Amino acid sequence: MYKKLVAEQIYPHIQQYVTLDEVESLIEKPKYVDKGDIAFPSFTLAKHLKKAPNVIAKTLAEKLNHPLFEKIVADGPYVNFFLHKQEVSKTVLTTVLKEGKNYGKVPLSQGENITIDLSSPNIAKPFSMGHLRSTVIGNAIANISEKCGYTPIRINHLGDWGTQFGKLIVAYKKWGNEQAVKENPITELLKLYVQFHSEAEKDTSLEDEGRLWFKKLEDYDEEATHLWEWFRNESLKEFNKIYELLQIKFDSYNGEAFYNDKMEETIHLLQEKNLLESSDGAEVVSLEEYSLPPCLIKKSDGATLYATRDLTAALYRQQHYGFQKAVYVVGHEQSLHFQQIFNVLKKLGFHWANEMVHVPFGFILKDGKKMSTRKGKIVLLEEVINDAIELAAKSIEAKNPSLPEKEEVAKIVGVGAIIFHDLKNERMNNIEFSLEEMLKFEGSTGPYVQYTHARACSILRKGSSFKEAAALTGLQDEHSWNVVKLLIEFPSVIEKSFINYEPSQVAKYVIDLAREFNKYYSHVKVLTEDEQIASRLALVQAVTIVLEEGLRLLGIQAPKEM
Ligand code: ARG
Repeated sequence: MYKKLVAEQIYPHIQQYVTLDEVESLIEKPKYVDKGDIAFPSFTLAKHLKKAPNVIAKTLAEKLNHPLFEKIVADGPYVNFFLHKQEVSKTVLTTVLKEGKNYGKVPLSQGENITIDLSSPNIAKPFSMGHLRSTVIGNAIANISEKCGYTPIRINHLGDWGTQFGKLIVAYKKWGNEQAVKENPITELLKLYVQFHSEAEKDTSLEDEGRLWFKKLEDYDEEATHLWEWFRNESLKEFNKIYELLQIKFDSYNGEAFYNDKMEETIHLLQEKNLLESSDGAEVVSLEEYSLPPCLIKKSDGATLYATRDLTAALYRQQHYGFQKAVYVVGHEQSLHFQQIFNVLKKLGFHWANEMVHVPFGFILKDGKKMSTRKGKIVLLEEVINDAIELAAKSIEAKNPSLPEKEEVAKIVGVGAIIFHDLKNERMNNIEFSLEEMLKFEGSTGPYVQYTHARACSILRKGSSFKEAAALTGLQDEHSWNVVKLLIEFPSVIEKSFINYEPSQVAKYVIDLAREFNKYYSHVKVLTEDEQIASRLALVQAVTIVLEEGLRLLGIQAPKEM
């Protein structure tokens, strides 16, 4: 925010040598707080002016002055700018209050579409921890992109196709029970799938039967299609319970199966551009020039692959949404796959392939080991979320038993705790999963931020009686200044977190703001009737606005009372 202002002050004095953007890009934050709030190094100018940087800094500092700066001084080769606390805090608080939840918007786009491929679980299998990560990281990136001016399109690329459905049909026809599947679709279907594999070890003909039924499915056989649709619907109903708890909505559930009748065209296109080569009977696109293994397009038996579907999906999405950027939030174990897809599209000559990004992330660990959803060790995510809600309900019962709408708040706190615990970590890090840890009301947790927000709201309720008493004059004490400086940073935090596809930057920011606000509150008496009451209340209100908005970007709600 003030970087621009500084650049605009300096620019007129040196415009024959550098552009305004260059000036802005040179501006830094001094290493030590006593050196001021913003610094301009004059090294670059030295070679243009053929003068020593110290001399340049001194001459510049003497020429500059602006009401928002208390002093502007040269310090060696640097010009250091000290913000005028009172004036700046007055401007910032007025801006935040005026803009409300629009504060922090960054104009990176004029509403262009950005597709976010997120969540994308596999039908008839449990919703895994990896899918949870993809869901919450993807949703946060979508929210943050919207704050930066984009129109996010959330796409759930369901894993609803593949040979496993042939096996599942065989298993269901042999050992399945309709009622049981209806009652517990995921558990039952998984059981059938596991049973299929253990029986197939003894009886190899089962594999053939599985292939046969998958072939039937591909040929639109009525019975096969009917069973597949049923498995898909029942699974989706289960997944939707999780999405409902997380309050996440998708713009499209077009999964792998959606592209069945669209892949011929993709293969045709590859042929037309002479990109298909046969290799052991299979059709591949060589990616030698990118030092990558070839991308497998069609197997020797004619079956298409995961990659063929993703290529087709990309073409469809470009046609349908004309996306400006396409983001894929998928675990890092699929990095090679996405590199291959993006490069095949480049070889096809699509410039938009340069705007496609794989956003990978690490594992969720339990006691240092990867949390698995296979076989006996299934962790049903819905149960995990419900446990978190229950724990949150217990804390609320202990802290504030008379709270209205306790159940609703417990849900918001429990779910918020899980989301925050994920997002506060840089996404590539592995995360240790601990319900107790994530639900603490102290420390770097979602409940801590929510609680701070609720506390600020309660100060505002108490303060409403003397709010109009004085004018907003700004603040200059050290504690409020630390809060104000963070408020100033909000837009640039959002921008950085979008550019790096790193919601953790927003999560860390809300933790910092909550901490700084709590420090402020323990040192300063907000509710005293004096000439600064309006400014202090404005500070509290600005904090509630930014905390609520920061949490919203992460996909977390902020109750007014806790
Ligand atoms: N269903 C896949 C899996 O669980 C993830 C799909 C990711 N999205 C994509 N367009 N490939 O591994």
